[in-house]
Amino acid sequence: MSKTIRFNAFEMNCVAHQSPGVWSHPRDRSAQYKDLDYWTDLAKILEKGLFDSIFIADVIGYYDVYKGSNYHALQQAAQIPVNDPLQLAAPIAMVTDHLGIGITASTTFEHPYTFARRLSTADHHTKGRLAWNVVTSYLESGAKNISEGGLRKHANRYEVAAEYVEVLYKLFEGSWEADAIVRDKENRIFTHPEKVHEIGHRGKYFDVPGYHLCEPSPQRTPVLFQAGASGPGKAFAAQHAECVFVAAPSKNVLKDYVADVRHQAAAAGRDPAKVLIYNLVTVIVDETDEKAQAKFEEYRRYTSYDGSLVFMSGWTGVDFGQYAPTDLVKKVETNAIVSAIEHLAGGSKTWTIEELATWGGIGGLGPVFVGSAATVADILQAWIEETDADGFNLAYAVAHETFEDIVTHLVPELQRRGVYQQQYAPGTLREKLFGEGPLLPETHPAAAFRDIEKVKREANYEANRGADRDASHEAHPEGRTAEATKRADDPAHVQRSRRDGQAQVIA
Ligand SMILES: Cc1cc2nc3c(=O)[nH]c(=O)nc-3n(C[C@H](O)[C@H](O)[C@H](O)COP(=O)(O)O)c2cc1C
Repeated sequence: MSKTIRFNAFEMNCVAHQSPGVWSHPRDRSAQYKDLDYWTDLAKILEKGLFDSIFIADVIGYYDVYKGSNYHALQQAAQIPVNDPLQLAAPIAMVTDHLGIGITASTTFEHPYTFARRLSTADHHTKGRLAWNVVTSYLESGAKNISEGGLRKHANRYEVAAEYVEVLYKLFEGSWEADAIVRDKENRIFTHPEKVHEIGHRGKYFDVPGYHLCEPSPQRTPVLFQAGASGPGKAFAAQHAECVFVAAPSKNVLKDYVADVRHQAAAAGRDPAKVLIYNLVTVIVDETDEKAQAKFEEYRRYTSYDGSLVFMSGWTGVDFGQYAPTDLVKKVETNAIVSAIEHLAGGSKTWTIEELATWGGIGGLGPVFVGSAATVADILQAWIEETDADGFNLAYAVAHETFEDIVTHLVPELQRRGVYQQQYAPGTLREKLFGEGPLLPETHPAAAFRDIEKVKREANYEANRGADRDASHEAHPEGRTAEATKRADDPAHVQRSRRDGQAQVIA
C-alpha cells in the first residue's frame, strides 16, 4: 500500500453527535460538551493518536422534519442544544501543538466580511492550524430565523457559496501585502498603508469595497474542508476543497465519488492527488473481535430509534415518521442533502425504515467497523486500496471512549504495518497535510486574487467607483445618498440583503 491512512475526529459542540441516544450510556461524556475540559481532554487524546484534525461540525437550526416537529430532537438532544464551534479553536490550540482544528461555518448565515475576521483571528491564535469546513446549510428551521424567504434552493446555495469564498479569498490573499506590517519601533511605523488594499468587491450577493481587518494569518486562507456530494456540491469541492468529506456507506459508492472528485479537480487545473478525501466511519475496537463486538452490542442498547430518524429526516428532508418501520425508503425530490437520499435510495441495497434507523443509530450515515485492531486495520486498508480515498473521518459512539480505544489499539497496529504516520510533520496544518508551504498553491482559485490591484484593474473597478462617487454627490434629504435610496427602495435588493443575513438594507 503506497499511501498512509489519515484520521480526523468528527465532533460537534453538542451531545452525542452522530449516535443519538448514546449520551445516556453510563461512560459517555458528551453531555459535558459545555465544559472546556471535555474538549481539551479530547484534543490531547487525538494528538497522542496523531490525528490530522478534530473536525467540528455545526448546524444553524434544529431537526424538525421528523413527525413534523422538533419534539424528538429536543428530547434526545439530537444536535440541539448546540454551541458555537469556532470558540473551541483557542482552548484546543492551547493544549496541543500539532492537531488541526476544523471548524464548520455556513455561507448562508453570516456576512463574509465579519466572518473573515473571525477566521483570521482563529488562524492567528492556533498558529496556522485552522481549517474551515465550508457548508451551505440544509435546515429550513435555521434559515427561517434569519431570512424571510427561508432556505434558498440547493443550486442557488452553491452560487452564493462561490461568491462568498471569492470575497474571503480577496480579503485573505490580496488585501494585505506580505510586507505591509513592519512593527518598526525606531521609525514608529507599524504598517505601510500603501501596502494595504481595498478589495473592491461588487457582486451579485455581496458588496465589500474595503480591506480586511486582520493582518495576514499564518495560512492566510485556512485549510478548506468541504463535504458537497451532489452535482453542484462535488463541483464546488473539486474547485475549492483541500480536504473533502464524504459519508459513503460502501466501497463502491466511495470509489465512484473519489474518482469523480479527482477527475473534476484535475479538470479545474488542480493536482487531484492533493485533494484529500476522508470517508465517515465509526470504529469500535478492542483487544479481541469478541470484546469489540460485545462493546458494540452494549452501545446499541442505548441508541434511540426516534433520534436516528430525526437525523435521517433532517438530512434528507423526508419525514420518515410518516412510514411504518417495514416500509421501503423510496427516492424522493428533496431540497435538503440531495446526496444523502441518492446514496440510500439509489444504491444497490433496498432499505426499510427500520434498517435506516438502525444504520443511523451509531455513526450517522457512515458504516461501523467492529473488531480487534488487526480486523479493523484490514478493513481500513482495503477501503483505501480499493477506493483511492485518503483516510477516515471517525465518529464516536461513546465520548471519549471510542477515540481512546482507537488511539490505544488501532493506531499502533496501523503504525506497525507502516500505513500510519509515526510523527507529525512540522509547520501549519496545510504544511502537515501537503508537505508544501503554508499558503494555498498557485493552482488554487484563491491564488488569482493575490494581486488585488490587478484584479480590480481588470474589473475596471476604479471607473465604476468614479461613477458611484458622482451618484453620491446627489445627497438625499434624509441623509442617504441617491444610490442608497435607489437600493433601499428596490424590493429585490431588500430581499437579497435579508437573505444574506443582514438585518437592514445596507446603504
Ligand atoms: C462528513 C460530513 C460532514 C458534514 N458536516 C456538515 C456540517 O457540519 N454542517 C452542515 O451544515 N453540513 C454538513 N455536511 C453536509 C454537507 O455540507 C453537504 O451539504 C452534504 O454532504 C450534501 O451535499 P450537497 O450539499 O452537495 O447536497 C456534512 C456532510 C458530510 C458527508
